[in-house]
Amino acid sequence: MKKVIAALASIAMAGSLVSCGSGSAPETESAPETKVSDTNKTIGIAMPTQDLVRWNNDGEYLKKQFESVGYNVILTYSDNDAAKQNNDILSLISEDVDLLLIAAVDGNEAAKNLDGAKEKDIPVVAYDRLIMNTDALTYYISFDNSAVGKLQGEFVKENLDLDNAPGHFNIEFVGGDSGDNNAKYFFSGAYDTLADYIKSGKLVIKSGKDSFEKVATKDWASDNAKKNMESTLDAYYTDEQLDAVICANDSTALGVSQALESKYSGSNDVIITGQDGDLENLRNIVDGKQSMTVYKNLDDEAAVAFEVCRQILDGGVPAASLVDSLPAEVTYDTGSYNNGKKYIQSYLLTPYVVTKDNLQLLVQTGLYKWDSDKKYLESAT
Ligand code: GAL
Repeated sequence: MKKVIAALASIAMAGSLVSCGSGSAPETESAPETKVSDTNKTIGIAMPTQDLVRWNNDGEYLKKQFESVGYNVILTYSDNDAAKQNNDILSLISEDVDLLLIAAVDGNEAAKNLDGAKEKDIPVVAYDRLIMNTDALTYYISFDNSAVGKLQGEFVKENLDLDNAPGHFNIEFVGGDSGDNNAKYFFSGAYDTLADYIKSGKLVIKSGKDSFEKVATKDWASDNAKKNMESTLDAYYTDEQLDAVICANDSTALGVSQALESKYSGSNDVIITGQDGDLENLRNIVDGKQSMTVYKNLDDEAAVAFEVCRQILDGGVPAASLVDSLPAEVTYDTGSYNNGKKYIQSYLLTPYVVTKDNLQLLVQTGLYKWDSDKKYLESAT
């Protein structure tokens, strides 16, 4: 299994497919040793929404992990509604949970009720998305968010052969939700990678939407991404070729590919990036409707979160040395994520690129089991 995963990483890094970070892809045979806890502790997990595939996977996996070693779990989803999530957090605090693990709907809003957690000495860990402006937060578990954008930018650079191809290319950016701190990192990771080409005119953003604020997509919703892309196509691409769209994640990429299907009359294949490896997007990659996704092994992210939380619950203080025993490739970072109050100790996992050429390996490694999708998997070999 390890070898196959390593192959996935090396395929991702070969040729025009670029992986970020050093070394191999995340370990997937995570299985942290399953020592049953003799405590009767309860973890409160607050997830943003069930509308997106990934948060369902994260939530289920985390719940199972914690329960398998004897912890109780209260898992909440908040319909992407920051006020609802704050109520969920309040009730978790009033239940006297022993630890809060939060993937915030909105990184600023989520801070509002955390003083209560601090008063009760309930440790707060940010999952995937940073929580801003609170000193109640101690740890942050995520992927290297800038690297995600960088991988998307490099993919476009390589596939348009920007250093050698003649003429110019037209590109658009589609960002994530403005309340999600990660979304800014994804955008700047991609934009900065391509900035020199934009400056030199090799890449042209015909819409002029060249900042995160101009391209943010409310709630990361496919419908919103579709609507925004349709108006961009109507306004700027009726007679012009569009060459690439950097979509921050898979839900926005879905909306963009639908908009292209309904409104774009050019005959070229438009490069579309994504992030997450959602099922529908993997199908689109096989069908040629999306070019790549930045794959994040969510089981690994959850497994790392689990190990960090478990150490806290056992009275430990997770630090750099924990990295060696973590079931994935992780960097311990204390100088990248400042939440406005302090630098947050972060455990950052490595993302990597999945395309039609290496997607099959996700199945071979057991990361995906899609009996009903067999035709896609077979056609990807
Ligand atoms: C981000 C997360 C991504 C993506 C997005 C949409 O914060 O890192 O993986 O899922 O939210 O929910």
